[in-house]
Amino acid sequence: MKIVIIGGSGLVGSKLIPILRDSGHQALAASPKSGVNALTGEGLAEALEGASVVVDVSNSPSFEETAVLRFFETSTRNLLAAEAAAGVGHHVALSIVGTERLGESGYFRAKIAQEKLIREGSLPYTIVRATQFFEFVESIADAATDGETVRLAPALIQPMASDDVASAVAAVAVGSPLNQTVEVAGPEVFRLDELIRRALEARGDRRKVVADPSARYFGAELSERTLTPGSGARLGGTRFEDWLRR
Ligand SMILES: NC(=O)c1ccc[n+]([C@@H]2O[C@H](COP(=O)([O-])OP(=O)(O)OC[C@H]3O[C@@H](n4cnc5c(N)ncnc54)[C@H](OP(=O)(O)O)[C@@H]3O)[C@@H](O)[C@H]2O)c1
Repeated sequence: MKIVIIGGSGLVGSKLIPILRDSGHQALAASPKSGVNALTGEGLAEALEGASVVVDVSNSPSFEETAVLRFFETSTRNLLAAEAAAGVGHHVALSIVGTERLGESGYFRAKIAQEKLIREGSLPYTIVRATQFFEFVESIADAATDGETVRLAPALIQPMASDDVASAVAAVAVGSPLNQTVEVAGPEVFRLDELIRRALEARGDRRKVVADPSARYFGAELSERTLTPGSGARLGGTRFEDWLRR
């Protein structure tokens, strides 16, 4: 199959391309760097010619709330229209576990909007919701830092390696559309403050991590299970400590 990866140069996208090629598919990396812009529509029709599946693993360059909402709404509308015109049979999008519970955050409101357009659109789809990537823990720490202190709610979190995210998305992309949302997560559950403390320690980062139940996560309040998946989630195999050691 020809499978177009929107955001194919990104963290997950660049891992997805070789997995799909190794299983015999024609995987095309499409992003502004290769002349395909989902926000403006530039290069989309050409990239989608003859494609069976489109996988959207793009991300907004800005997390500012107006910009990120515009990014996910406009790019998703453009993609779905271009896919319908090209006769694409499956739209796969990567989203985040707990998205519907995080609407206090501008970033998550944009992901909610992206998911809604896909669900209400006419194209067969599968939404893959993943938990936080191990690679993202530093960004979580940075967003929660004030001076030398990192303030985080002791909520549960089940993060995963982006390699495992890419494998899960690849398996979905070569399968039939499910017209529903599936969840993927890591093999272990942590407290968010513990996870970030461990990650900073491993990097020799001296910031102090404080557990604070009222601390916000990208603008949203967290309860115990806001970030954890339901019982049916597929689990990746990579453990956090093994990933840290690599
Ligand atoms: N971070 C997490 O923990 C986490 C967890 C679950 C799900 N997710 C989701 O995973 C997805 C991918 O994240 P990532 O970290 O792999 O992304 P990333 O590394 O930041 O890569 C972003 C990609 O989007 C592309 N892009 C930017 N603007 C574009 C445009 N106008 N048209 C087409 N492509 C565009 C970039 O292309 P260029 O290189 O050409 O600029 C790049 O390939 C996101 O949707 C995110 O919500 C993230």
